[in-house]
Amino acid sequence: MKYVANILFSFVILFNYTVCATLPEPRKNLPVTCLVSKSSYQEIIVCAKECRKNPCLSPQDEEKRLLELLVRANNCLQSYNGNTLEDAIKAFLKDFEFSDLSQFILVDSRQTDLGGKSSDRVFLIKDQNGNFKYVVKAFRNPRQLSSKFLPEISSLAILQELSIPNVGLIEPLAFASYNDGDKEWGLLLESVAPGKRLDQYALQVANAKPNSKLRSDYLETAQKAFARIGVSLAKLHKRKSSYEVSIPSEYLTKFDEKLGEIVNNELITSKLSEHFSLQEFVSYVNSVKQEASVIPITYSYWHGDAHLGNMFYDEATDQLTFVDIAKMHYSVDMNGEPLADGTLDLLKVEENLLRISLGHLTRDEIELLLTTFYQAYENHAERHLDPRHLLFYKTYRKLSRLVSYSCYHDEQEPARSINKAVFDSAVDYFKTKLPPQVFSESGRGLPHSQRAVFASLAAR
Ligand SMILES: Nc1ncnc2c1ncn2[C@@H]1O[C@H](COP(=O)(O)OP(=O)(O)O)[C@@H](O)[C@H]1O
Ligand SMILES: [Mg+2]
Repeated sequence: MKYVANILFSFVILFNYTVCATLPEPRKNLPVTCLVSKSSYQEIIVCAKECRKNPCLSPQDEEKRLLELLVRANNCLQSYNGNTLEDAIKAFLKDFEFSDLSQFILVDSRQTDLGGKSSDRVFLIKDQNGNFKYVVKAFRNPRQLSSKFLPEISSLAILQELSIPNVGLIEPLAFASYNDGDKEWGLLLESVAPGKRLDQYALQVANAKPNSKLRSDYLETAQKAFARIGVSLAKLHKRKSSYEVSIPSEYLTKFDEKLGEIVNNELITSKLSEHFSLQEFVSYVNSVKQEASVIPITYSYWHGDAHLGNMFYDEATDQLTFVDIAKMHYSVDMNGEPLADGTLDLLKVEENLLRISLGHLTRDEIELLLTTFYQAYENHAERHLDPRHLLFYKTYRKLSRLVSYSCYHDEQEPARSINKAVFDSAVDYFKTKLPPQVFSESGRGLPHSQRAVFASLAAR
C-alpha cells in the first residue's frame, strides 16, 4: 500500500513539475535581478502546489512535510531591507520595473475603503498617471503553517489550471520577503483585477435616484454581474469528489456548539424569548440539522471567502475575477481531489448582498439580483440545490451571528449599533420561522413589531 502511495506521490511530483514547465514565463522585461531569480520564481510555485494536502500522510508526517516546503520556498525568496514594510516594498518594485521612486505611488488599502480585515496587508501600486498597475500583498510569517502566502499562490495556480471561461486570472509576477526585525513578511506582486468590485455594482444602484432610468440601467448591469458570479461559482464547484459524503462533520459539530452557547447565554435567550418559545427554537434548529445531515453531497472546490468585496466584474469583457483566494487552496488535495462544500460560497454571496444593501436597495431589487444569481448557478452547476442543505448553512450562520453579535449589549462595545442591527436581523430571521410567543398570563400574543422591509428579507 505504502509502495503504491509512494509511486503515486512521485507521479504527482512529476506531474507538478510538468505543469510548472507550462506556466507562463515571468515577464519578459524583467530587470536583471529578477531574471537571475527566474528559477526561484518557478520553485516557489512548485512548493505552493506541493503544499496542497497529501491524503496519504499521517497528520504528523504531513506537518513535517509542509514545514519543509515552507523552508524550501522561503529560502528562494530575495529579501529586501528597509525601516518599514513600505520601504521594502518600494525597493522590491524598483527592482521589478521602476527605475526610481517617483514613477509609482504606493497606496495602503487600509487607507482606502478597499481594505479588508485580515492581518495581512495589501498595497495598490499606481503609476505616475494614477493608473492602477499592480498589487502587492504582504503576508505575515510566511514560514508558519498558518500563513496564507503559499496558499494564495497555490490558489492562483488552481484557477489557472481550471481555466474557467470568463473567469479572469490574477498573474503572480514576483515574490520576495522582508524582515522587520520582529517578524517576516512574504511579498507577492500580482496583476490587477479588471473592472469594479461586486459591492460597487450594488452600491451604484443604491446611489441612483429611486425609479430613475439610471437606477434601472445600473440594476441591469448589476444583474449581469450577479449572473456571472453564479455561472463562475457553478463552474468552480463542478469539480466533484467521486464519492458521496454528508455535510462535513466539523460543521455539524460547530452547529451544536453554537446552539449550546446560545442556550447558555442569558442575554441571548432573553432576547429570543421575547418573540418565541426557547423550546420551539431549539427543536426547530435541531430539526434543520437532522434533515440536512442525511442528504448525500459531493465535495467540490470552493472560493472559501466569496463575499462581494473579493470579486471583480468587468462589464466590457463580461469577465469575473476572484481575489483573496487563499482558502481555495484548502479545498483541493495534491491529486486534484475536491475537499470542500461549495454551498457556503453561495450563502456568502447572498448574505453579503443582504448586508450591504440594508436600507439602500429595495426588496424587489435585492430579490432580482439573488434570483438571477441562483438561477445562473443552478443552470450551470447541473445540479439542483437541495433547500434543506442551504437551510442548514443559513441557520448555522444565523446562530453564529446571534453568538458573535450579542456583544452589542456591552455598553463599552464601540460598534454597538451595527452589532445590534446584525443581532436583530438574526432574531428576525428566526421570527419568520417560528410561531410568535404566546404569554399565558395575559392570554395575548406578542404584538408583531412593525416589520421593516429587511426583516421580511430575513426569511430568505
Ligand atoms: N489583484 C487585485 N486587483 C485589484 N484589486 C485588488 C487585488 N487584490 C486585492 N485588491 C483590492 O484590495 C482589497 C483587499 O485585498 P484582499 O486580497 O481582499 O485582502 P483582505 O480582504 O484580506 O484585506 C480587495 O478587496 C480589493 O479591493
Ligand atoms: Mg478581501
